Amino acid sequence: MNALVLVAAGSGTRMGTDLPKQFIKLKGKPLLMHSLERFLEFDPGIKVVLVLPPDGNRYFAPLRKSFPILDEVCSISGGVSRTASVKRGLSLVPDEALVGIHDAVRPLVTPETISRAYHAAEKEGGAIPVIAMEDSVRRLKAEGSKVVDRSVLRRVQTPQVFRASLIKEAYRRIEGEEYSDDGTVYETCFTPPVLVEGSRSNIKVTTPEDLLLAEFLLSRQ
Ligand code: CTP
Ligand code: MG
Repeated sequence: MNALVLVAAGSGTRMGTDLPKQFIKLKGKPLLMHSLERFLEFDPGIKVVLVLPPDGNRYFAPLRKSFPILDEVCSISGGVSRTASVKRGLSLVPDEALVGIHDAVRPLVTPETISRAYHAAEKEGGAIPVIAMEDSVRRLKAEGSKVVDRSVLRRVQTPQVFRASLIKEAYRRIEGEEYSDDGTVYETCFTPPVLVEGSRSNIKVTTPEDLLLAEFLLSRQ
């Protein structure tokens, strides 16, 4: 069984809008609905857990009226960090599922990335999408900086997909620590997740510039 934890409990400090960015509409639909629809296209029977901000019902209740599909989705309130939010979302996922964890603010995830990540995780236990770096990279030193070989670096995206029993176990063991992504939590207990190819369009909408780019990319589809 495929499951999805869609994390949408952040407050969007860097976006700087009153409305948390996951609820901002592009092409008439909140970012989180664009993200959700990509997964429903992959598997219409996917079990979805939506993780919302503590006051999220304010924004979410009206959405339920416009998007009846949300009646099929369970929701839970998140925590103060992404790590805490994922952990709460996972508590509603059955152990036997294959679970993807996805940032609700990545509305441009492609069907290929989703399918590669779920298929690799089914075989290997855990899989995460990555892309090559296109900029040169420098590491800061106590004095000055030094170039880093970018050909050995990868940028990490979501969905990160795992056998649910394994990622839940890893999240139990890291109690109290903070991690910026799920693959890192997974590898504190198990062998590192397999890397699959992500996509350059799968941006994480973080700043106002990203919102403009996402709007442009969505309008071309
Ligand atoms: N997230 C979450 N719970 C938190 C923090 C983040 O569910 N306590 C989610 C966000 O809603 C987002 C994803 O994790 O879908 C990636 O986080 P990020 O882009 O950092 O979003 P925010 O934390 O909302 O933004 P900022 O860091 O600028 O405040
Ligand atoms: Mg954040």
